[in-house]
Amino acid sequence: MKDFHISSSSKELSAVLADYVAHLSSQAIAERGVFTIALSGGSCLDHLAKGLVALSLLGKLDWSAWQVFWADERCVPLDSSLSNYAAAQIHLFRHLNIPKGKIHPVDTSLPPEAAAKAYAGTLAEVFNCREGELPRFDLILLGVGEDGHTASLFPEHPLLMESNRWVGLVLDSPKPPPERITLTLPVINNAANISFVATGKSKAKITAKAFKPTSNHIELPVQMVKPAKGEIFWFMDTKAAKNIGLD
Ligand code: 6PG
Repeated sequence: MKDFHISSSSKELSAVLADYVAHLSSQAIAERGVFTIALSGGSCLDHLAKGLVALSLLGKLDWSAWQVFWADERCVPLDSSLSNYAAAQIHLFRHLNIPKGKIHPVDTSLPPEAAAKAYAGTLAEVFNCREGELPRFDLILLGVGEDGHTASLFPEHPLLMESNRWVGLVLDSPKPPPERITLTLPVINNAANISFVATGKSKAKITAKAFKPTSNHIELPVQMVKPAKGEIFWFMDTKAAKNIGLD
């Protein structure tokens, strides 16, 4: 059984998503003084940003206790319109007072391999990981592509079998741009909470597949997201949720 919320409007979805994130943030900060989140690109970020700003939560959350990472990033300059960091900067961070030192973009000024290594090093440092310990995010916010990709983990990509590295490199993304850095499944599946956001009729097919009993098929990366000690929550609109449970 997957936990999910189906919204009749984009505005309501944004509000419910923001409320959910605010709740997780308050809980994590109360328990451990920090809230660690990894953002994705695409519509999930738009919904979160709209919800947080609209809910005027801005004054209610302790943003200084957030540690912000990305589930994936395109290997483009951080001020490029294609950059997930740039999208978050424009839509979210300019409204929030998250200290700059707590926002950890992938350093895309480095060559991709070096950027992946450096990003893994930042994860180890910020999460203060002991030998053999994986970073455990309080929340990883993910979108899902029509092909079942999530973050920058694409169908049948060898990276789906990665069991050691925390950060992987994609040089042949079917979704442009081709070069990307992504968290791998070991890190994603170590998260305490994972939320998927899927909206619009173009996602009806893939959400129906995602809600079928999970399999480890590498054709459906979204189904390989199965946090060992964590929860998944889906935020959908009625169009994307149309075919769930119909067969
Ligand atoms: C990226 C994203 C990617 C995105 C999905 C869904 O960098 O492209 O992280 O995984 O979340 O492609 O995007 P939409 O919700 O905008 O369709």
